[in-house]
Amino acid sequence: MTDGLIAHGRLAGLDEITGVGADPARGGYSRHVWTSAESELREWFTARATRLGLDVETDRNGNLWAWWGRPGPDAVVTGSHLDSVPGGGAFDGPLGVVSALDAVARLQATGFQPSRPVAVVVFAEEEGSRFGVACLGSRLLSGAITADAARALTDADGVTAAEAAAAAGLAPEHLGRDDEALGRIGLFIELHVEQGRGLIDLGSPTAVASSILAHGRWRLRVSGQGNHAGATGMRERRDPVVAAARAVLAVEEAALATDDARATVGRLRIVPGGTNVIASEVDAWVDARAATDAGTRALVADIESRVQEAVADSGCAVELIEESWSGVVEFDPELAARLAGTLGGVPLLPTGAGHDAGVLSGAVPTAMVFVRNPTGVSHSREEFAETADCIAGVEALEALLRSVL
Ligand code: GLV
Ligand code: MN
Ligand code: MN
Ligand code: MN
Repeated sequence: MTDGLIAHGRLAGLDEITGVGADPARGGYSRHVWTSAESELREWFTARATRLGLDVETDRNGNLWAWWGRPGPDAVVTGSHLDSVPGGGAFDGPLGVVSALDAVARLQATGFQPSRPVAVVVFAEEEGSRFGVACLGSRLLSGAITADAARALTDADGVTAAEAAAAAGLAPEHLGRDDEALGRIGLFIELHVEQGRGLIDLGSPTAVASSILAHGRWRLRVSGQGNHAGATGMRERRDPVVAAARAVLAVEEAALATDDARATVGRLRIVPGGTNVIASEVDAWVDARAATDAGTRALVADIESRVQEAVADSGCAVELIEESWSGVVEFDPELAARLAGTLGGVPLLPTGAGHDAGVLSGAVPTAMVFVRNPTGVSHSREEFAETADCIAGVEALEALLRSVL
């Protein structure tokens, strides 16, 4: 392991975890909450933070906190997440965690004495890749999801979040809003790789976040008649896969009919899923986003009516079930402008990606720093950040911490 900022041309912390959760079948990384890959990342984080003299604790929702000095109120907290989407990139999440640890290391190296408690945080299940609800750890912490709703979530194998949390050593009955942990946060700053082309277009290595699109997840459940692929004539079928295909096209059409909304079907589940079997049921998950809450709700209403129309002749039934919702986030404009000024006037940038910082912005003062992604691609192994830009991000975070400590 290396404690310096850079090893092999990358931030050393990223280098240390480069093999963890690598997913050769999909490409990129699959690092899902409370799996062996994710617990290896937690162990790595604990070891690295401990080497910096930080005290690491796990809160009752499975978020990790590494404290520099005594945990206390009005703390300056920075960090991000270590879990990934299926086949995700190396930077979404880990860059914010590694940069936070590096910024603390740099402050320590200059003998800096913080005037407030400082913590580096790792939020659990930010991507919602295992249990379906993004930012589960920060939602639980802040009460944005109830403990009962969270405990009942299931993964693809039918394991409940309560069971998985228990297997990870947590007490499922203690999941839920954590006023003690929340009450300590005086300011949360999340550094994150940018996930679109904003910083490429602006020609800047870093930016401060201005807003996040409203977004949510819905499940389209398409129910038909399971049957035999050879024995059932083409006109005798109620095939939910065919209906789901029409539904997916309707989702795209609804988003295309607006100026700037986005709607995606990135996950399908076919039951039972056999080559010679007409399926009985299909779940198609819809991720929908737009600039306002009302615009997003209108988009979803339009999706629903277009889908019903598209499948009307299929003999299948379709139900749309909301699984999660995040209203539009406007980061505190005064704080964002002040932080951008501290960084020499870096640009302010909106984003279409959700973040724990967005969830927490309803409860505590919150800001974000983005680092340029030269591919403009994220949630993919093609996501990237140049080392020079990563270092600019660490320097920006260090400067921001100095300015508030
Ligand atoms: C999180 O990465 C999201 O889906 O916005
Ligand atoms: Mn992500
Ligand atoms: Mn992320
Ligand atoms: Mn995210």
